Amino acid sequence: MSYESDQLLSEYLLMHYGTDEQLMPWDFGPKDAIGFPVRTVEHFPPGKCDRALDLGCAVGRSSFELSKSAAHVTGIDFSANFIAAAEALRTEGSINYPMRETGKQSKQATAVVPDGAHPENCRFVRGDAMNLPDDLGCFDRVHAANLICRLPEPEKLLSRLPELVKPGGHLVLATPCTWLDEFTPPANQPDEDTFEWLKKQLGGSFELISQQNEPFLIRETARKYQWTVSLVSLWRHCDEQDKA
Ligand SMILES: C[S@@+](CC[C@H](N)C(=O)[O-])C[C@H]1O[C@@H](n2cnc3c(N)ncnc32)[C@H](O)[C@@H]1O
Repeated sequence: MSYESDQLLSEYLLMHYGTDEQLMPWDFGPKDAIGFPVRTVEHFPPGKCDRALDLGCAVGRSSFELSKSAAHVTGIDFSANFIAAAEALRTEGSINYPMRETGKQSKQATAVVPDGAHPENCRFVRGDAMNLPDDLGCFDRVHAANLICRLPEPEKLLSRLPELVKPGGHLVLATPCTWLDEFTPPANQPDEDTFEWLKKQLGGSFELISQQNEPFLIRETARKYQWTVSLVSLWRHCDEQDKA
């Protein structure tokens, strides 16, 4: 399955930029699941930094959030359709899209770059998180939300992370642990609990700072939603001082 369809583009634009009223008009609905791409970025420690990387950035909301505290932000996603939308938002400030109601019916909605963001400091690039360019450099903050269990070979990214995060820099990794054979062949899925596996994979280079469950919501139509819980963990890349 790929993330190129117009239906998924609309769902992600709404998830990233929709108003509370657009996303969850039902009083009895899980309103605390709104704003996931903003909440994951809030897991980084406060303060300014130089370079941030958003892997699997989709239509860019977390990248724009990162630009509030980072001087340079790179958002990378495999979907050409998602990257085109993020780039249009960056250059135009807003884009219109159809929000599906039911059957053939849809409403027009507008996605807007959030207040306080610095789109001029963001760049969006189509790329593969398992085969990132050698000259990408290293970052103070790396954010990878709901990406790892969508990769055919997740260990390729995990083994690159110590090189991508500067010593003393931070990594926010979120995963709903929703492994599916259509994305990740069974041989490449963890045999054990995903978080135990992550601790083994990252533990040699990273210190685990915190972990928290964060719900998120994808609205498919006016009456159909996906409600999922992601495990969000914050890691610090150990520096020479830690090892001494
Ligand atoms: C479940 S979505 C999460 C998007 C976003 N981070 C969020 O939390 O809303 C997974 C994203 O990863 C992207 N993706 C899938 N495989 C990828 C790969 N190999 N490299 C980079 N991005 C990838 C998809 O295009 C999609 O945007």
